[in-house]
Amino acid sequence: NNIYLLKFKGFYFHCAAFDTGLSENLDDFEIRDDDVFVVTYPKSGTIWAQQILSLIYFEEHRKRTENLEAAHRVPFLEYSSRDIDFGKRPSPRLFTTHIPYYLVPRGLKDKKAKIIYIYRNPKDVMCSYFHYINTYPVFKAADTIEAFMKQFLEGKVLGSVWFDHVRGWYEHRNYFNIQFMMYEEMKKDLRSSVLKLCKFLGEDLSEEAVNAVVRQASFENMKDDPLANFENTLYRGFGPKLQEGHFLRKGTIGDWKNHMTVQQNERFDKIFQKQMKDFPLQFIWD
Ligand code: PPS
Repeated sequence: NNIYLLKFKGFYFHCAAFDTGLSENLDDFEIRDDDVFVVTYPKSGTIWAQQILSLIYFEEHRKRTENLEAAHRVPFLEYSSRDIDFGKRPSPRLFTTHIPYYLVPRGLKDKKAKIIYIYRNPKDVMCSYFHYINTYPVFKAADTIEAFMKQFLEGKVLGSVWFDHVRGWYEHRNYFNIQFMMYEEMKKDLRSSVLKLCKFLGEDLSEEAVNAVVRQASFENMKDDPLANFENTLYRGFGPKLQEGHFLRKGTIGDWKNHMTVQQNERFDKIFQKQMKDFPLQFIWD
């Protein structure tokens, strides 16, 4: 039924990932020491991180002297190689990816390059995802939360099982040069999060530059900015509704309360507690 989903080595990709042969051979993809990767499970703050990194690295973005989409400056590893020759890209190269820890290029495991892993509480991820697939047909949509919750918990979505993604990356963190960032912390204090990222990346920005990053990475600014909200994007092929600016939907913490019944929430909690037993990272639910 899910014609766009393709399972490869235990992980669901969008089939577009296999246009060029790169995804089958990610292991050999050559990593440079100064590469930077944003890694997320879908709907956890990917486009936000793309915008922040683009603003941190490109003065022409902060000052708006060059009009390029953030998604072009920080392109998807597994979905962009048809349009971009990564080998010819100047350093530092910035990438985005949803892949699980075990599918990464070999060089990353040798602690070459930096990784920023963004995670978000899974109830909000699920609700964001529910709206997303009902707006953009990247795979077959489920028309109720009840149906989608089943699909999400079974991992029959692009990104596969949320628990496996987050646990996998965290439990293998010692193989990587990795900084974990929480969506909810970014939301509560974007400035501190930007400073933390600058420190991790070794990017020493002026106060004025930091202010520009924070200002231009706010939800309100991004929603109205066609270069930041996917309105005229790489992913145009995904359908007409993309033009409506819905990709940035609400950008809040705790929207799951407006979607899940008490009973659904209890069921979710039980599974969460079982799957995330002994997991040390904290989550913010509202
Ligand atoms: S995707 O499809 O994986 O690339 O989606 P992703 O970008 O990871 O997630 C989309 C959700 O992130 C929200 N978002 C933001 N929240 C707060 N601040 C900013 N600046 C921001 N930018 C994007 C976006 O609104 C989606 O969440 P929901 O809950 O659906 O609004």
